[in-house]
Amino acid sequence: MIPQRMIDEVRQSSDIVDIVSDYVRLNPSGRHFKALSPFTQEKTPSFIVSPDKQIYKCFSSGKGGNVFTFIMEMEKVTFPEAVEMLAKRAGIDLGSYRQQKSQQEEQQQSSQHDTLRWAARLFYRTLMSEAGSKAYAYLASKRGLDAATIRKFGLGFAPDSWEFLLDAARRDHVPQEQLAALGLVTRHRERNSLYDTFRNRIIFPILTVGGQVAGFGGRTLSNDPQTPKYINSPESAIFEKSKLLYGMHAAKNEIRRQETAILVEGYMDVIAMHQAGFTNTVASSGTALTRYQAKILKRYTSRVLFLYDGDNAGKKSMLSGIDILLAEGLTPWVVMLPGGDDPDSFIRNYGKEAFQEELESEKRSFQEFQLQCYRDAGLMEDPDTASKAISAMTRSIALIGDPVQKELYLDELSKKLDLSRQTLSKVMATSADDRAPRHESRGPNRHEAAPNAADDLRPISVAERTFLEALLESTSYGNEVLDFAASHESMFTLEHPAARAIFTHLVERFRAMDDKEGHIDITSEISSVEMEQARNLAFDILIRLPVSEAARPTPAELEQHARRCLTHFLTAVKNIMLEPLQKQKQEIIAQLQAAASAREQERLSRELHEHNQQLRTMEQEVDESIKGILGE
Ligand code: UTP
Ligand code: MN
Repeated sequence: MIPQRMIDEVRQSSDIVDIVSDYVRLNPSGRHFKALSPFTQEKTPSFIVSPDKQIYKCFSSGKGGNVFTFIMEMEKVTFPEAVEMLAKRAGIDLGSYRQQKSQQEEQQQSSQHDTLRWAARLFYRTLMSEAGSKAYAYLASKRGLDAATIRKFGLGFAPDSWEFLLDAARRDHVPQEQLAALGLVTRHRERNSLYDTFRNRIIFPILTVGGQVAGFGGRTLSNDPQTPKYINSPESAIFEKSKLLYGMHAAKNEIRRQETAILVEGYMDVIAMHQAGFTNTVASSGTALTRYQAKILKRYTSRVLFLYDGDNAGKKSMLSGIDILLAEGLTPWVVMLPGGDDPDSFIRNYGKEAFQEELESEKRSFQEFQLQCYRDAGLMEDPDTASKAISAMTRSIALIGDPVQKELYLDELSKKLDLSRQTLSKVMATSADDRAPRHESRGPNRHEAAPNAADDLRPISVAERTFLEALLESTSYGNEVLDFAASHESMFTLEHPAARAIFTHLVERFRAMDDKEGHIDITSEISSVEMEQARNLAFDILIRLPVSEAARPTPAELEQHARRCLTHFLTAVKNIMLEPLQKQKQEIIAQLQAAASAREQERLSRELHEHNQQLRTMEQEVDESIKGILGE
């Protein structure tokens, strides 16, 4: 366990707006910041960040939290890993705490992320060692990479051996099952033995936006045509290739600053581009551009420059990539490199100045590029194929969300084709119908949308919600309410499982505190509640609580707030305690209304009377004890 004071220190040094901005484009909106939710596929922003409260809430998925939960979600890491990542970012040394972990504990706790990091370091060290000299020479002389670039991308080398990684794992006590789960070693079916997956390959660690190793790509050094040029880590919960962009970790700030991302095809292209100073470059690495990757780009910019290989395959990928970007509200641009070159080889062959010139002179709008492709393919000469090509182009325009842009592109196309606007609009209307089945086939994306939080759980009662509101709010003014709750826990039962989880967690934490007057950092506490719905419910309440206007309330004001919370809380407790009796009362009334005989009616009337008395007595008792607590 990381000591609480360190967790507090890390949280206080990590500004939520700053952290979230690494992943999402935030726009100021009153006291808050707003953005498209990184958790769902939404078109209108429902993701709110509160700098005052240092929390966020996504109203379409229901997810909420603080810096720790945000990193847990985005980087798919555990709570301690999120704390470590943020500590590193804030320059806080958790070293003293880490040393306290015994070796055994370290071993037990070594997570998949630790193992990935371990492997990346091992591959890097190997590349830098004698064993990697041939590989290093290849990178330096054949590929023109300098030492700084190799370090920046953490490139490595996996030697030509079946057991290099396995041996190292044995030495460093890394569990073999974990290597197998990560696809770093493969099981031989017949012999039922394990062997290294990456052999005689340059290793490209693939990092998340936050800089965690998620997987590897490996380029062979062998000339054997039977050997695949590249292999990648297999897909897993940690490594989802369709949701990663190679180089994003290194490129994100520059993409934001330049308001443009350059998209290339290969690992080597990204690296060569960065070395040449084009540090806003990323790659979709080995997959066709996915909608998810477009969404990631959209978090940083709205302009994307395609710079794929100058061959036919590259052209095709750009043509389909254009529609994917447009559908996500991004504006694509294209540079077509001379046939046979990719960005990496172009820079090596002609130098970065020539490359820069090429970028400037060859940049085309996506529409010019489409038309060029169709002309080059001879489609525009035959009326039949020309009409198909034109309707494909209007389909792309139809994907644009911004009505002004849509008009402008339609105008431009009309000029270029020398066709009237009316004709084009008609084509667009009919081709939009053609698109219907394509929309249908977007099934997987629809499943990605997070389920509405409200569907997960039945709604919480007003009394229990008020109870939680008062409890959560009260912690900013002291521990009085919590203290009371902890000692009167048996007086009432919370019906809602999420409410119960929050309450139990806070009471337990309070009981474990040495200094009962100590400050409770409520967002951190909630972040460590295990039940996700409970966390979401708590953050939903927190984001709605009013922000106190006074930056530094006086002790008298604090006292007043604390008292208000306690009163609210006690009223809520009263309602929760009386709720079962109230329900019974309603049932009796219903029975009474449905009663068939006079005798039955009489019996129920008596029952109702007795019940009312019981209710009143109980209410009085509770009121009395509330008065006692409040000292009235
Ligand atoms: P390329 O075949 O264009 O390779 O694949 P490259 O990047 O130019 O590599 P070099 O210059 O020969 O070293 C482009 C990208 O497609 C993926 C890799 O991500 C590669 O960088 N790829 C390619 C694979 O995943 N598997 C393969 O077998 C080939
Ligand atoms: Mn290449």
